[in-house]
Order: sequence, then structure tokens, then C-alpha cells
Amino acid sequence: MRDSASPERQSLSERPQWRSLARHRGQIERLHLRELFAADPSRGERLAAEAAGLYLDYSKNRITDETLRLLLELAEACRLRDRIDAMFRGDRINTTERRAVLHAALRAPPSERIAVDGRDVVPDVHAVLDRMTAFAARVRGGEWTGHSGRRIRNVINIGIGGSDLGPVMAYEALRHYSQRDMTFRFVSNVDGTDFSENVRDLEPGETLFIICSKTFTTLETLTNARAARAWCLRGLGDEKAVARHFVAVSTNADEVAKFGIDLDNMFGFWDWVGGRYSMESAIGLSTMLAIGAENFRAMLSGFYAMDEHFRSAPWTHNLPLLLGLLAIWNNDFLDAPTVAVLPYDQYLKRFPAYLQQLTMESNGKHVTLDGERVDYQTGPIYWGEPGTNGQHSFFQLIHQGTRLIACDFIGFCQALNPLGDQHDLLMANLFAQSEALAFGKTAGEVKAEGTPDDLVPHRTFEGNRPSNTILGERLTPHTLGALVALYEHSVFVQGAIWNIDSFDQWGVELGKALAKRTAAEISSAIDPVLAHDSSTNALIRRYRNLRK
Ligand code: F6P
Repeated sequence: MRDSASPERQSLSERPQWRSLARHRGQIERLHLRELFAADPSRGERLAAEAAGLYLDYSKNRITDETLRLLLELAEACRLRDRIDAMFRGDRINTTERRAVLHAALRAPPSERIAVDGRDVVPDVHAVLDRMTAFAARVRGGEWTGHSGRRIRNVINIGIGGSDLGPVMAYEALRHYSQRDMTFRFVSNVDGTDFSENVRDLEPGETLFIICSKTFTTLETLTNARAARAWCLRGLGDEKAVARHFVAVSTNADEVAKFGIDLDNMFGFWDWVGGRYSMESAIGLSTMLAIGAENFRAMLSGFYAMDEHFRSAPWTHNLPLLLGLLAIWNNDFLDAPTVAVLPYDQYLKRFPAYLQQLTMESNGKHVTLDGERVDYQTGPIYWGEPGTNGQHSFFQLIHQGTRLIACDFIGFCQALNPLGDQHDLLMANLFAQSEALAFGKTAGEVKAEGTPDDLVPHRTFEGNRPSNTILGERLTPHTLGALVALYEHSVFVQGAIWNIDSFDQWGVELGKALAKRTAAEISSAIDPVLAHDSSTNALIRRYRNLRK
């Protein structure tokens, strides 16, 4: 049993600060954003903060100054400052995997010193960056050719999870800055359709595969990598071609060598980089090939600017801290179990998918660091689509459904593809949506428009729906880095307060183990003895019969 008298061992929900927030929720529930804005004409400017090129307006949350004060007190009580320092210092804060958590070292300038077990890792980071830079220059400049001497025109990243979602998100987000005479594709799914459709129009002699896998043991990635090697050899007919058409990104040199990739063509990283925190490591090689080393380093500078802000800015103006605390407030106290991420920028179309792994693999945990079952909600569900598309599909539920959904709107003031007044229209929609969600439309207002009485309830908008708006000047590599780091640290803040390990992912293991056993049963030449539950047995039998 936990000793609830000791503050160190006290469950989060027993802490006085948590209890104060729970009581405070009663007061907030009676307030409407309409009243909060009416009572304070400067609220929209006051409840906002800015850093690393990003402006966060959090005024449309259901909070008062008291809410913020209580949330900051909670952060203090949970010793957030110590937790932040421990992460940046390289302590093994990923306790269940006994690892340091140092993605911040990936974007540290050469002048910094960050030690893991007494060894400064910053020079190692920059050595890999320099190798990536040289390689990217050779490929982009046409100096690195394929086996038959043809220029590399296609780059295919094969990886899954953090070895796919970051690279594909970054490529799409920064496509505007990419080398347009090259094609970039991303294969992740073990479904053969993914590989087949992605290579069908490509020439093996012009195609470079980047096999991205932290562990280099992931079933999907190795299966697709083998398919890629077979496809390449079918086209080029010579084992030696592998050396010109395959590079690996991994922490596991032994497995890379076993696969047959020359270690000269391997770009490394380290166990203190989590898969979902790795897009700016060598895992971002496809990003660098697409946008060039200079833009890649500009992206790192955006990450770094947000890191520095997170470490040093006062808490009342600290963007990741505020975003994280508001996520806890909405999730745990206002019963809003999901966050809709709504980028009003087509280039960010894969950003919600990227955030899903970052947030949900990190904070989808049900026990504390000490292994105790939590009695509060942890990681909210993140989902979303670019605006304005989402407005014509699921926004109805956000505006008038029975559940409270927190929203993060993301937009930029300058268009990368100016087309008439389309960017103004796009941004007008962003501002209109957050306004409509917050303020709604009362029955009185609807009636005053001459709406028939029977339609008034249908056309009334309650409002009081919380949202954040993140505004940047322009989507650049620097801004993207800052945006990703903002969410990374916000996830950290949430996990630190919930007292969970945001950096492990044991929840993916059971399914992997069962799939291995099931795959053997499916492919068995003789009818296997199935010892699953009756549902799984019947499904496997049916599948075996029909696949014949
Ligand atoms: O299965 C989950 C996971 O381990 C993720 O955490 C990771 O990003 C992904 O698989 C891919 O792992 P790897 O890079 O080792 O292939």
C-alpha cells in the first residue's frame, strides 16, 4: 500500500493541488467563454504567449487566472522543474527501459556539452549530421549514382512508426523547399500494396532505399526491405547493386550488417533517442535529401529555439508548459477526452498522424513510474485533419455534439502558394471556427433572425468549446522544428504530472508476439492445432480456408 501521508509517495489525485483543481472545476463549469471575454476586454491578448516564431493564443480555453494559478501550483508540486532538468541533464528518466531521454541533444549546437554516462554526445551528433550532409550533397548533386551509373531520382524511405511518421510528415510539411526533380515516397505498411503501389512507376536504377529502423528488427520494415532488395535485384541483376541503392539508419549495426548493408552506408543514432522523438536524427535523412542540409539545419535551429524557451522561460509565458497544463485541465477536469489537431495548412496534412504517435504512444499509460494503477485519466486521444476539409466532415460534432472536444488550430500568416485571396479565405475560416466554437449562437440570436420556432434548438450553438490557436508567420523549416518541439515538450509536461513513463511503449509488445505465433499458424502446411479463444480460432480457420 502507498503511504499517502508522504507527499513524495502521494497519488496525484490525493494531492491538495489536484483536489483544488477538482473543486475549482465546479466554478468554471458555470462560466461561459462569452462571460469571460465580456468581463475582460484584454483577455484575447493577455492569455497568449510567443516563442521561437510561434504565437499561442490560449484565451479561448475555459479557464480563469485562478485556473492557471492552480495548474502552475500543480506543476510545482509535481516538481516539474526537477523533471525538466533531469531530462536535459541526461538522467535515465525512461526508467522502465533504463535510458536517458535526450532528443534535445540532437539539435544542440556544437558549443553545447550534454553528457550521457560522462561522455559528451554533442560531437557524435554533429559527426552524423556532417556525414548526412556530405551524402545528401552527393545524391542531390548527382554525384552518387545508381549501380548502372544513372542519377538517383527517387528516394524511398522504408520504416514504420517513428521511422516513418516523422520523415513523411516533415517531407510533406517542407515539400515547398524540396528538390523538385526528385521523388520521395514512404513505405511503412506490411500490406504488400504499400510497397507495390509505391514502386510500380519507378526505375530500380534510379531508386535509393533508406531502410530506417532504430532496432532493425521490426517485422514490417525488414519485410519491406527484403521486398525492396528483391525488386532492385530483379531490375539490376547484380548483388553489388545493393551497395549503391540501399542505405540504413539504425542504432543496431549488427543487424544492419546481417541484412547485407555495408556499414559505410549506415547512419547511426543512439538508444537515448526514442523512435517517436527521432525525426531530426539520421532518421530524417530523407528530409535532408529532400530539402538540403541548410534547410535541415534551419529546422534543427527551430527545435533548439523551443528547447531553450522551454528550459528557461518563466512558466507563465512558457508555451510547452501552458499547452501541456491546458491539455491536463481539459482532459482530467473538463472531461474532454480528445484533442482535435486542425492545421489550416495543406502542407501539414500528415501532422495529426505524426502527433498521434508522439502523444498517444508516449502518454497512453495506465500505471505510474512506480507501477501503481492510476486513478485519473492520462493521455487524451489526438486526431485531426487539415482545415478547411474537416469543417465539411466532423466539425458538426465539435460544434453541436454532446461531447466536449478540445481543439488546436494551427495556421500561418503568409501563404507559400499565394493564389488570389485563397490564403485569406483559409485563415478567415480558422478564425471563424474558433470564434464559433467559443461563443456559439444563442437561441435568442437564432430567433431574432426569424428562424421558425421548431428549428431554433437545431440552429442554436451552445459554444463554450475550448481551443488553442497556434499562429506562425510562415511555414519554414525553422517554424516546423519549433512546432514539433512545442508538442514534444507539452507531452513531457503531461507525462511528468501524471507521473508516467512517457518514453516507453510496452503496450505494443503483446500484439507483436501474438502476430508472430499466428503468422506461423497461418502459413503452416498442415492444419495447426489452434489454442486461441473460439473467436480467434474461427477467424484463423476461415482465413486459412479462403486463402487457399
Ligand atoms: O511498435 C512500436 C515501435 O517500437 C515504435 O515505438 C517505433 O517508432 C516503431 O515501432 C518502429 O521501430 P523501429 O524504428 O525500431 O523499426
